[in-house]
Amino acid sequence: MTEPTVKNLDTGTPHSARLWNYWLGGKDNFQADRDAGEAIAGMLPSIVALAREDRKFLRRSVEHLVRDGGIRQILDIGTGLPTADNTHQVAQNVAPETRVVYVDNDPLVLVHARALLQGTDEGETTYVEADLNDPESILRAARETLDFSQPIALTLLGIVHFIRDDEAALAVVRRLVEELPPGSYLAIAHGCHDINTEEAHRIVDFWNERGTPKIKYRSSAEIAAFFEGLRLLEPGVVPCNRWRPEGDPGEDVNQYCGVAIKE
Ligand SMILES: C[S@@+](CC[C@H](N)C(=O)[O-])C[C@H]1O[C@@H](n2cnc3c(N)ncnc32)[C@H](O)[C@@H]1O
Repeated sequence: MTEPTVKNLDTGTPHSARLWNYWLGGKDNFQADRDAGEAIAGMLPSIVALAREDRKFLRRSVEHLVRDGGIRQILDIGTGLPTADNTHQVAQNVAPETRVVYVDNDPLVLVHARALLQGTDEGETTYVEADLNDPESILRAARETLDFSQPIALTLLGIVHFIRDDEAALAVVRRLVEELPPGSYLAIAHGCHDINTEEAHRIVDFWNERGTPKIKYRSSAEIAAFFEGLRLLEPGVVPCNRWRPEGDPGEDVNQYCGVAIKE
C-alpha cells in the first residue's frame, strides 16, 4: 500500500478496517492483516462472502433509502477504507444533492477517505474523526453538515459489534436515534452467531487474542433489540444476503442486518 501519512501506525497488529479491506480484495492492508484474514477464512470460509454481502447490503439499503425513502442526509459511522460503492457514491448516484457525514476513529481510514471519497458539487461529503463510544461528539460534528430537523439515515454497518458491553452498545445506538427526527432511518449490520455457531465463537476468540478493536458477535434477537421503538422494514433482521436480494441470495453469512424507520 502507499506510504501512510499517519504517525505511529501499528502495522504489526491486525486491524479491523484493513482486514475488511483484505477480504474485499483491496490493497490497503499489511502482512499482519493478511495473515489474520487467511487464518480466519481457514476457520470460517464464508467470512469473505460475509464482507462482500455486507457491502451489497450497504448498496441495496442506501439505494432504497434515497430512492424510495426520500432520504437526502446520511450519517455513516464506521466508514472503513474506501472501496467500491461507498455510501456517498451510492446515495449521490440516485440523488446528487445528498449530504453524507462519514465517521471513523481510525486515522488511516480518515487519511484515505479524505483523499478518495470526493462527493458531488450539489451534495456534501464530510469526514469526522470520532469514536462511536462518544455519541455526543459525533452528534456535535454531524450538526455542522446535517440538518437535524429533516430525516437522516444513520448507518452503523460492521461497527456496533466493536462495543462489547451490551448495555453500552444499546445506550449509544439509542442516544444517536433519539436525536433523529421522525422519518429517519436506522440501518445496522452486525456479526451474529446464530449460524455456524462453533466457528463464529472460534474466530471471535482468535481475533480478540490478536486484533484490534476487539469484537462481540450477538444473536439475531440481541441485534433486533437495537431497533426497539422503531418499525423494522421487511424482511426484518436477517443475514445480509437475505435483505432484499436481487437474485439468488446464496449462502447465509454471519453478518445480520436490518433497516428500521423512526415514526
Ligand atoms: C469492518 S469496517 C466496516 C466498514 C463499512 N461500514 C462496511 O460495512 O463495509 C469497521 C469500521 O469501523 C471503524 N470502527 C471500529 N470501532 C470504532 C469506533 N469505536 N468508533 C469509530 N469507528 C470505529 C473501523 O476503524 C473500521 O473502519
